[in-house]
Amino acid sequence: MKGDPRPIGVFDSGMGGLTVLRALAAQLPDEHFVYLGDTARLPYGTKSPDTVRAYALQATHLLLSEDVKMVVIACNTASAVALEALRDALAPVPVIGVIEPGARAGVAATRNKRIAVLATESTVKGAAYAQAIHQLMADAQVVQLACQVFVALAEEGWADTRATTAAVEDYLEPLFAPADAPDTLVLGCTHFPVLAAAIQRHVGAETTLVDSAETTAGAVAEALAASALHADTGGGPRTIRFFATDSPERFARIGAIFFGSAIEDGTVTLVDLKMA
Ligand code: DGL
Repeated sequence: MKGDPRPIGVFDSGMGGLTVLRALAAQLPDEHFVYLGDTARLPYGTKSPDTVRAYALQATHLLLSEDVKMVVIACNTASAVALEALRDALAPVPVIGVIEPGARAGVAATRNKRIAVLATESTVKGAAYAQAIHQLMADAQVVQLACQVFVALAEEGWADTRATTAAVEDYLEPLFAPADAPDTLVLGCTHFPVLAAAIQRHVGAETTLVDSAETTAGAVAEALAASALHADTGGGPRTIRFFATDSPERFARIGAIFFGSAIEDGTVTLVDLKMA
């Protein structure tokens, strides 16, 4: 039996979700992927829940037209405010978000039950991470912090510049000053793993940084197995295709920082979601 060869769709507001695609591609070597980054409309993190939902619905419908067998919402903001709407709209195609896996990783890592979540404004406002963490650990103390400037720094490829260090200090200084500082920091935004070195330096080695990429990939593997949707390329080549709503050249150039390997020029297709 050759399994289900249809691709898995991965959606993000931009290039940050490539950190999730990277983990998926590593954990699931037999699967084909289609990635869509809504680069024309990024950031989602400062937009209203209604706008994010509308954008996410348009984007994921494009993935459906690529005959995907499952959709991964790699965008934390879209996962936080639109997951239920997307599940309803895309049924019976299964939809997996990053919030629950990220919360699970944070709960597994903490020793003092104090967890900080760094995310976009919209994710923080919706409090989806706090809810997901409290479902797993009712007595956890959760502090959420909106760090929107980190998105711009990561999009610029400024993983560890002086500006990055200054932004990390400005955001995190108040959080880590008190004696009851969190011991675990959830990077609740696709873009923040790119700044991990600068963040880790500021909070010290005793603070555990977690991001949802690995645990999301694990959740996808479980869901594939549970629904018998997994592919079997039998060791043959697998494909990863990219779509962007703006500037494919920039997507390939900056996206490589998030993806961890080169995205060849010419492999990114420009798409207009309003026309899709
Ligand atoms: N993808 C978004 C997230 O993970 C970050 C970028 C944005 O604000 O659109 O929340």
